[in-house]
Amino acid sequence: MKGVIADTAHESATRNLYIETYGCAMNLADSEVVASIMATKGFKTTDDIQEADVVFVNTCSIRDNAEAHVWGRLREIKHQKKTNPGMIVGVLGCMAERLKTQFLEKEQIIDIVVGPDAYRDIPRLIEQVEDGQKAMNVLLSREETYAEIVPVRLSSNGVSAYISIMRGCDNMCSFCVVPFTRGRERSREPESIIKEAQELYNQGYKEVTLLGQNVDSYKMENEQNEVVFTFAQLLEKVAQIAPDLRVRFTSSHPKDITDEVLYTIKKYDNICNYIHYPMQSGNTRVLNMMNRTYDRDWFKMRLDKIREVIPDCGISTDIITGFCTETEEEHQDTLTMFDYGKFDFAFMYKYSERPGTLAARRYADDIPEEVKGRRLTEIIDLQHRNSIIKNTSEIGKTHIVLIEGESKKSELDAKGRNDQNKIVIFPIENYKKGQYVKVLIERVTITSLIGRIVEEVKF
Ligand code: 5AD
Ligand code: SF4
Repeated sequence: MKGVIADTAHESATRNLYIETYGCAMNLADSEVVASIMATKGFKTTDDIQEADVVFVNTCSIRDNAEAHVWGRLREIKHQKKTNPGMIVGVLGCMAERLKTQFLEKEQIIDIVVGPDAYRDIPRLIEQVEDGQKAMNVLLSREETYAEIVPVRLSSNGVSAYISIMRGCDNMCSFCVVPFTRGRERSREPESIIKEAQELYNQGYKEVTLLGQNVDSYKMENEQNEVVFTFAQLLEKVAQIAPDLRVRFTSSHPKDITDEVLYTIKKYDNICNYIHYPMQSGNTRVLNMMNRTYDRDWFKMRLDKIREVIPDCGISTDIITGFCTETEEEHQDTLTMFDYGKFDFAFMYKYSERPGTLAARRYADDIPEEVKGRRLTEIIDLQHRNSIIKNTSEIGKTHIVLIEGESKKSELDAKGRNDQNKIVIFPIENYKKGQYVKVLIERVTITSLIGRIVEEVKF
């Protein structure tokens, strides 16, 4: 399978690919790999589904509502296909992996089903469809990292780009479907990652985000299975490309984030002081049931360590409310640890049982929807209060911001992010995206800082 890309010269673009992506950043990065594979077969991407010869929906299985959304979208695409019967429709990604043939059986309009490790096979699958058959490849791999495929940057702002550094996950959190949909963890060769980052910088990109389900377990081993290259070393190598190339990464795991990573962030100004540090629950019994392999005290100790080494570190987290058997007191433990964390941002969810996961097999999903909802509201309210306090404390301070483009509300305003990953809005004046500017913060909202440029920052 690996030969498909390597030996195929790009055919001149004659057909149109429309690709729609749901879920995490990893899925966005995967769609860019798929677009690259399709380009070798003469497909160029289009934003207009009406003119598409092939429509791909890259899907997410993380929660039930993510899947429901995709099913709804497929029903809409069904109508589209009525006006364009020759259009090939494919389902990619985590739902494809999870539901496999169900797509071909349930939805007549679907021609192709491809799991996250089988994208190199897409050209062959398309040929199979053109020969009048349905086509599917959902084989998971222990090696595939798409290392040498240069992604086609889709809807990129030309300033920041994702680089996938590893695939899969070996953690087996009991609530999570990812190990089943994305398979075993494997790391991509550092040379290809550094080359991709260097090429992005040469093209004018100013920020790369290194992506993995659990970046702290990124590793290269020698033949004796000894670790010879770590995530901290990778971070350092990418940071050394240029001082004006910002380096970000996501996600970390509280059990794995090393001091070596923290000190590497501290050492390099261009490695952003921002860590996504998912807590999930603040109660030890629930964390145990979630199979997170850390407890409340460990989470707190590592959080304290992050703040000790990088005092101004932006920290965000993930929370799940109403996990199986969670009591009111245990929810209170989540609230108190969540408050202690004073997170800059949080992704907060109600527990959604996923078929086949450890939790679905072992535990009853026994917390009523309204209780899950009420607990979620309490967490969200607390986050709003903490965000406002935190953001307000930034008024009067200056932040170095990388300009990413126009703000959503006004073309006279620019949008960018500071080192801590907070959104900053300010009048763009004569500055351009891709420039670094120092912004004085004058006002804030729950999600952003608002101010004006005081000077350009040169490297
Ligand atoms: N239900 C709710 N949230 C989930 N997440 C993962 N699986 C589930 C689930 N079954 C959340 C976790 C994870 C984030 C990516 O999604 O908080 O960190
Ligand atoms: Fe990404 Fe997980 Fe959703 Fe798959 S299930 S798209 S890995 S968030």
